Formats: sequence, structure tokens, C-alpha cells
Amino acid sequence: MSDQIGQRKDAHLDLCQDSAVEPAGPAVGLGGYTLEYDALPEVDLERVDLSVTLLGKRLAAPLIIGAMTGGTDRAGEINARLARAAARVGVGMALGSQRAMIADPALTPTYAVREMAPDLPLVLGNVGAVQLNMGVSAEQVAGAVKVVGADALNWHLNPLQEAIQPEGDTRFAGLSGRLAEACGRVGVPCLIKEVGAGISRRTAGKLAALPLAGVECSGTGGTSWARVESLRAGEGSAAAEAGVLLAGFGVPTARSIQNCRRARADWAVIASGGVRTGLDAAVALALGADAVAMARPLLVAATRSEEAVVNALESVIYQLRVICFCTGAADIASLKERQVMPARTPEAG
Ligand code: FNR
Repeated sequence: MSDQIGQRKDAHLDLCQDSAVEPAGPAVGLGGYTLEYDALPEVDLERVDLSVTLLGKRLAAPLIIGAMTGGTDRAGEINARLARAAARVGVGMALGSQRAMIADPALTPTYAVREMAPDLPLVLGNVGAVQLNMGVSAEQVAGAVKVVGADALNWHLNPLQEAIQPEGDTRFAGLSGRLAEACGRVGVPCLIKEVGAGISRRTAGKLAALPLAGVECSGTGGTSWARVESLRAGEGSAAAEAGVLLAGFGVPTARSIQNCRRARADWAVIASGGVRTGLDAAVALALGADAVAMARPLLVAATRSEEAVVNALESVIYQLRVICFCTGAADIASLKERQVMPARTPEAG
């Protein structure tokens, strides 16, 4: 089974690098927002403090490398570049699904980011929640979390992706109860994440009843996993056609952030799904996120070099610093108080 998972993981890397898997079109600040400019900010650019504490860990900026990969040699090399870059910049890193290493522990080194980069400030583990319905136990997940030294666990929920994926696991019935029980047994704080179709109000309400430390709201506007899986599904198949139809189905990231924040004030809310610039990050933070995660652009950088990942991270962080400066926000707590408004309206000017 781990061979099959490995082939799928490598196909995901190829498709995310080379194919059109994101919506085209104008997108200012997470799909159409901006912040109020302040020409008299009363702050020094170099003194803007971007550091935050997330899940008890201090980050140089509210940024995480999003969950992507692990389980093949190629994935291991990408993880090494991502991990070393995250440690150099002082941001967090999320692992891709650890299911492959649960099925075959010999693959563990491809996920061992703490060995690759001992100074990583925050590591998030990752397992598909539906695996709890497929015979994976909370103890196996706890073991996988521990062996990589993860500080918290992201359970991913991805019904749309699984429904389009040819070998997808679609038995989601009864999952809330299993998740509620498993969260208490994995030994670290748990979060739920989507993979790019977002968290609706209805979903956020259900998640609010689970023992979670937070949610990564991963909404539409970035990588579309319905699209990626439709490219794997075989041209003309019902799954491929459904994937094309539903490429943008779900909850836009901006709305997804608000749904999560309103559901629980005490959650760590991580925004993802189309975070590409410091303006996306600033809008996400002002909408209520505590940090942002970027996935696909950092995969593209990591296929070039560790240095390219550092440059990509530093570029977004510098943009965020400039936006804090130009909105008069001396730190991230102040930025979160800034008003978000639609871009390209008279008020935004
Ligand atoms: C992902 N993503 C992902 N998510 C997850 O929870 N487990 C996983 O194993 C993966 N695998 C994966 C592989 C690759 C190559 C990419 C690009 C992404 C989803 C990712 O964490 C994120 O939620 C979405 O991709 C949306 O963010 P971006 O890509 O728009 O920044």
C-alpha cells in the first residue's frame, strides 16, 4: 500500500508544480480585500514586531509552511529544504500526511524534519481524519506524531478531494465521535485542517464541539484539490468531470477564516488556501487569523533550492512588514485591529 501512496504523493508533486491548479484572475488580498492606508503611521519600519506565539511556540513571523509531503525520497528532499529554510527564517512547518509512514515505518526518515533542521520552532504533524474510519488507531497516530517530534497534530478533512481521487477514502460517517475520542489520545494539541475547500459556518459549528486547539481553515482561492485529482482521474471519467465542475466548490478563504474565528474565540486559527503575498497574509490576520500557511508556492520554490524557499518566505515577510508600517500597526496584535475593506471601491481609496 505504501508504494501506491508513494506514487500518488509523487504525482501530486508533479501536478502541483506543472499544471494550472489555481484560479486565474484578479486577487487583491485574499481574493479582493485591502486595508486602510495610513500616511502618518507613527511607527518605525524597522521596529515593526512581526513575532507571534502560536500553539505555545514563538515564531519570527505569523507564517507556516503548509502541509505538503513525505513518504518518498523526493518528498524527503523537499521536506529537508523546506525544514532548513523554515528554521533559518524562524517560521513553522507542517508535514504532509503521515499515513505512508504509518503504513511503512521505514519511510519515517522522509518526515524527520527535526533531524533535518533541529532549530525548527514549530512542527505540525498530519493525518487524514477519515483514516480513523479505515482502521488506523489513535495509538498509531500518537506514535507517528511522537517519532517526528511534532508539537501539534493537524487532522485533515478533505471529503471533496477524496470523492474525486480515484482511490479516495470516502467513509466519513460517524467521524466526529471518533475524532473527539482520538484527540485526547494523541499526546499533543489537535487542529483540524481542510485542504482548500474551506470551513463553512455549519462545519465550524460542528468542530466547535470537538476538543481542538485550533483550525486551519484552508479555503478556496489557492490550490484546488478537486482540480488536481481530476487531472489524475483519467480524462472523461465521471470523477474527472466532477473535479472540473467542482474545482472552485467550497468556502472562500476570507469567509472560512471568519467562520472559524466566530465559532471559537480561543482557537488558534491558521489561514490557508491562496495565501501568496504579504497582503494576503495581512488581510487574513485582520480578518481574525493568528497565522497563515502557504503550501504550493513553497513547493515550487523547494524544487529549486533551500535558498529559493528562504527568499520566498522573506519576501512575504517583508511585504507584511511594509503593510504593518503603512497601516500604523507596530505589531501583529495591532494589525489584527485594522479594518478590512473591499479593494477597488471608493472607500478603499
Ligand atoms: C497539499 N496539502 C495537503 N494537506 C494536508 O493536510 N495533507 C497533505 O498531505 C497535503 N498534501 C499536499 C501536497 C501538495 C503538493 C500541496 C501543494 C498541498 C494541502 C495544503 O496544505 C493546503 O491546504 C492547500 O494546498 C491550500 O494551500 P495553497 O496551496 O493554496 O497555499
